[in-house]
Amino acid sequence: AKKAVLGPLVGAVDQGTSSTRFLVFNSKTAELLSHHQVEIKQEFPREGWVEQDPKEILQSVYECIEKTCEKLGQLNIDISNIKAIGVSNQRETTVVWDKLTGEPLYNAVAAPVSPGSSVPVAVVPSGSSVPAAGTSSVWLDLRTQSTVENLSKRIPGNNNFVKSKTGLPLSTYFSAVKLRWLLDNVRTVQKAVEENRALFGTIDSWLIWSLTGGINGGVHCTDVTNASRTMLFNIHSLEWDKELCEFFGIPKEILPNVRSSSEIYGLMKAGALEGVPISGCLGDQSAALVGQMCFQDGQAKNTYGTGCFLLCNTGRKCVFSEHGLLTTVAYKLGRDKPVYYALEGSVAIAGAVIRWLRDNLGIIKSSEEIEKLAKEVGTSYGCYFVPAFSGLYAPYWEPSARGIICGLTQFTNKCHIAFAALEAVCFQTREILDAMNRDCGIPLSHLQVDGGMTSNKILMQLQADILYIPVVKPSMPETTALGAAMAAGAAEGVGVWSLEPEDLSAVTMERFEPQINAEESEIRYSTWKKAVMKSIGWVT
Ligand code: G3P
Repeated sequence: AKKAVLGPLVGAVDQGTSSTRFLVFNSKTAELLSHHQVEIKQEFPREGWVEQDPKEILQSVYECIEKTCEKLGQLNIDISNIKAIGVSNQRETTVVWDKLTGEPLYNAVAAPVSPGSSVPVAVVPSGSSVPAAGTSSVWLDLRTQSTVENLSKRIPGNNNFVKSKTGLPLSTYFSAVKLRWLLDNVRTVQKAVEENRALFGTIDSWLIWSLTGGINGGVHCTDVTNASRTMLFNIHSLEWDKELCEFFGIPKEILPNVRSSSEIYGLMKAGALEGVPISGCLGDQSAALVGQMCFQDGQAKNTYGTGCFLLCNTGRKCVFSEHGLLTTVAYKLGRDKPVYYALEGSVAIAGAVIRWLRDNLGIIKSSEEIEKLAKEVGTSYGCYFVPAFSGLYAPYWEPSARGIICGLTQFTNKCHIAFAALEAVCFQTREILDAMNRDCGIPLSHLQVDGGMTSNKILMQLQADILYIPVVKPSMPETTALGAAMAAGAAEGVGVWSLEPEDLSAVTMERFEPQINAEESEIRYSTWKKAVMKSIGWVT
């Protein structure tokens, strides 16, 4: 049968913490034509450590591309209509690989901590061969706590030196400390750096290098949004910062070239889409901001993924928060286009709490089941769940916090705990929104939301009740991928996406209005804050 001809199509890789997706959109309407998703393993080899295998991540990208192309074929859609590919990714997660072999350089086997020390020693035994499976240090990983403490001691008084250049507080969250840890603890990494064989990258760099040919001419680059999460990037000059590289002891030669978020980086070297340009690259939260068309100063979105991230566009100005938010690069959509900045509230655990209920407690079999449990009771019955599994991020930045479930009685059952887990996501968002309103001065009138969890109607209603403003969600929740596709389609030399609202005609909006009274909302929120205080200082 003759294949149906459509307008230009654009593909997007959305490589998140929990899963990888490849999605194909019609650039004239933003209609999602087909997609495929693969869940990604997360290893927790010790308390506080979170690892993933970069090769599994790369494999999952190839698998998603191939499967999506097969599905398009079944729909009679010709894949030669795919004109560009965008990449969006979990940010900060750190990979170091060997440019001669293409192998990641960090062994998944972790050595025990030596007694009395909080820093693991000699992760890779000296003389060991390059491991078959490498591991990336995931953004949630806490192993760098003592690295951070040691670095802080070298900054007299406070961490303004780092913050004023990067917009970020010194924390285990960002790539520079993860890279420092790898250089201090993994001999294969040290050796590869000495022998000029090592390349560093966040997941975008690892993927783009691999997809554009790897050891056969792969392009080693990143974009300004991902670079701004490494803590080595000066967000004013938009360059790797010499002083920061010296402070963290990072050799500049291993860093990728920093490019804009929308330009042709290279061509796909293999697979069904061989020869298609990769022309969009954004950290996932920036991609969602673009996908929500938050192009004006003061426009904000909240994305519910593994974590939860509220970004507010602050235009061409770098605004520094007084309430625990980060300053970050929002996007730069073209080599000659201006850079835009955002204030960001980062919550470490959102969807991850549902995965924890599924994988660790086994009280649900699939993530979707949580809605059913929560619906059965319609209340947490006084139970509060603070999922501070990786400490608390914004606005507290408290590495000493750990998860707690409190307010339990003999009446409490798994449905109440499920409900409390959903409420926790909403309360954490409220804390960020409050901080954002204080920093920006003008309270948000409504919240634009997206991400996988937004298909949970109970969560959306709870969110409107707890924020006490309307919550607005697009009919197509894959906003992150859409943003990456838009950046790729709009790139110079591709030019199939105009970034105008009429190119999003397939996306409609659903609105959730607050349904409880304001007093009840405030009481629940203040009890949540009491629970948060109990979670802080749990570890010293
Ligand atoms: O900063 C981490 C963030 O980019 C991860 O996003 O969607 O995997 O929660 P997600």
